[in-house]
Amino acid sequence: MFEDKKVLTGVKPTGTPHLGNYLGAIKPAIAMGKNAKEHYMFIADYHAINAEKNPEILSEKLKEIACVYLAGGLDPNKSVFYRQSDIPEIPEITTILYAYTPKGFMNKAHAYKAAVDKNRAAGKPDDDGINMGLYTYPTLMAADILAYDTDIVPVGKDQIQHVEIARDIAGIINAHYNKQLLVLPDYAVDEHVAVVPGIDGRKMSKSYGNVIPLFEDDKAIKKAIFSIKTDSRPMEEPKDPEEILVYQIYKSIATPEQLQEMGDGLRQGKLGYGHIKNMLLDAVINEIKDAREKYNYYMAHFDEVEGMLENGAAKARPVAQATLKRLKDAVFGR
Ligand code: ADP
Ligand code: TRP
Repeated sequence: MFEDKKVLTGVKPTGTPHLGNYLGAIKPAIAMGKNAKEHYMFIADYHAINAEKNPEILSEKLKEIACVYLAGGLDPNKSVFYRQSDIPEIPEITTILYAYTPKGFMNKAHAYKAAVDKNRAAGKPDDDGINMGLYTYPTLMAADILAYDTDIVPVGKDQIQHVEIARDIAGIINAHYNKQLLVLPDYAVDEHVAVVPGIDGRKMSKSYGNVIPLFEDDKAIKKAIFSIKTDSRPMEEPKDPEEILVYQIYKSIATPEQLQEMGDGLRQGKLGYGHIKNMLLDAVINEIKDAREKYNYYMAHFDEVEGMLENGAAKARPVAQATLKRLKDAVFGR
C-alpha cells in the first residue's frame, strides 16, 4: 500500500505495553513499516518528559518499548530505528517551526484542551500543572515528522489533528518562501484495527487497570484472563457470543476457524466460561510466546539494543541535518 512512500511511526515511551497496544498499534505499525519504501520508527522520549520526571522510570519505559518493537518483529536493518533525543536537529527545527506556528493551533490541540477540561472539571485553574512542553507538543511532533520528508504517518484517531497541524505548518512555510522546502505529510488510520476490550468490558487501557499483560509469564496472563467478567448462566444455556466478553477479546486474536468454534460452542450451550477462557489463554500465549522470548532476551542484553538505536540515529541524523540546512538557508537568507 505504501511501497513508494516514506512512512514514519512515533511512539511515546509511557506505560508498559499491554495486549491491546500490541494488537492495536505495535503489530500494525511494524507490518505497515515492512511494506513502505522507507520506514522511520522512533521513540518519542522528548514528548515523554512533559509528563514523567523520574529518570529511572523514563529509562525503564524506553527500554521496554524498544524491546517490545524488536520482539514484535521490527527489523532495525530495514527500519530506521532511533531515539528522538539522539537527534539534536529536532529541537532546532522545532525552534524554527515556532516562528511559523500560529498560537491558535496550540490552543485548539486536543492534548492541551483535554488537560484544561480536566482542570475545569476538578475546579482548578485552567493551566494548573500544564507545562510548555505539553502546550507546544504539536510543534515538536511536526518537527519529528517534517525533519524526514515523511509522506505518511500511521496514527490512531486521536493523533490525526497533530498530523494535520504538521501539514499546516509545512504549508505555511512553503507558501511564505514560495518553495517546496518541506514535504506535506498525510496521516493513515487503519480502520480495520479493532479496539481490544479489557477484562471489565471497557477499552483495554492502562488508565483503567483492566489490561491483559503482554510479555509477563503464563501465570500472570492466566490470572488476567480468568478475571474477565462473566455472568452466572449455566453452560447448557445457549448464548449469543456477541454478548460474551471473552469472545469479544478472542475476536482480536483468533483465526476465523477458532472464532467459529467458540461461537458455535456458545450458541449450542456446549462451552462453559472456563472452557472459553482457556481457549483465549491458549491463543494469547500462542500469539506472544516467541516474541516474549525475544523480549526477555533484549531486556537482558540491552547493550545490543542500545547499539541498534545508535546506528539508527546515525542514519536518521543526516536526513534531519539536510532539512535543517534547507530551512536555515531559507529563513536566514544564507
Ligand atoms: P492506553 O489506553 O493503555 O493508555 P495508549 O493511549 O498509550 O494506551 O495507546 C498507545 C497505542 O495503543 C495507541 O496507538 C492506541 O490507539 C493503541 N491502543 C491502546 N489501547 C488499545 C486497545 N484497547 N485496542 C487497540 N488499540 C489500543
Ligand atoms: N504524539 C504521539 C502519541 O502520543 C507520539 C508521537 C510523537 C508521534 N511524535 C510523533 C507519532 C510523530 C507520529 C509521528 O502517540
